[in-house]
Amino acid sequence: EARLAPAGPLAGRRVLVTSGPTHEPIDPVRYIANRSSGAQGTAIAEALAALGAEVVFVTGPASAPMPVGVQVVPVESARDMLAAVETALPVEAAVFAAAVADWRVEGAGASKIKKDGSGKCLELRLTENPDILRTISGLPAGARPSLVVGFAAETDDVIANATAKRLRKGCDWIVANDVSPGTGIMGGAENAVTLISGEGAEEWPRASKAEVARRLAARIAAHLAEEGV
Ligand code: CTP
Ligand code: CA
Repeated sequence: EARLAPAGPLAGRRVLVTSGPTHEPIDPVRYIANRSSGAQGTAIAEALAALGAEVVFVTGPASAPMPVGVQVVPVESARDMLAAVETALPVEAAVFAAAVADWRVEGAGASKIKKDGSGKCLELRLTENPDILRTISGLPAGARPSLVVGFAAETDDVIANATAKRLRKGCDWIVANDVSPGTGIMGGAENAVTLISGEGAEEWPRASKAEVARRLAARIAAHLAEEGV
């Protein structure tokens, strides 16, 4: 039985999505994590695949279901994620939806940390993780994806913070969302985002994560077509 060639505006295009939290080991049995479910990343990967893209999905240990019809690359830590992303290149567009841990435990090793019963505090030193989005945004033309999209979960001054983050990271677009308590965004089924590009800030209506993903995928397809990449 013959397989149909993928159709759609992203057919023949290779794209990358990072998703989920990362786990940073403390010792062989413990880790530092965060509350990202990976649901928005899964939805974006599926929306890109639905437009015909070949999707590489680099994901930390997420609780959301894995996207179907994509190449899933499971990773644990931020450093693993950076390595997997570099291996996945070249891609035409990259969407960095992962909640990458900003720090890892210095000197985490093969031995389990034992308590000695004295009641004294355990001190962990945290060292900064590589910034995957900034690293990939800074690649030379040719190696750099033509479109690099970051996320920014912010609580105060969402647009100002996300606009500054876009410049700091060197990415093309930032999908900013307000995760303040009370918005119900964090861990919820819906998202309310503002797309920040070189042209300014565009507020999108609050919608399901699937709908936000479809809209983003359509924008990515339109951009690549326009650029004639
Ligand atoms: N990101 C990344 N690697 C990191 C940290 C963040 O690739 N080590 C990416 C995220 O996937 C996201 C974007 O950078 O697309 C912004 O993440 P965010 O945590 O909002 O930015 P930070 O620069 O870590 O700033 P903050 O201090 O606000 O956490
Ligand atoms: Ca961060």
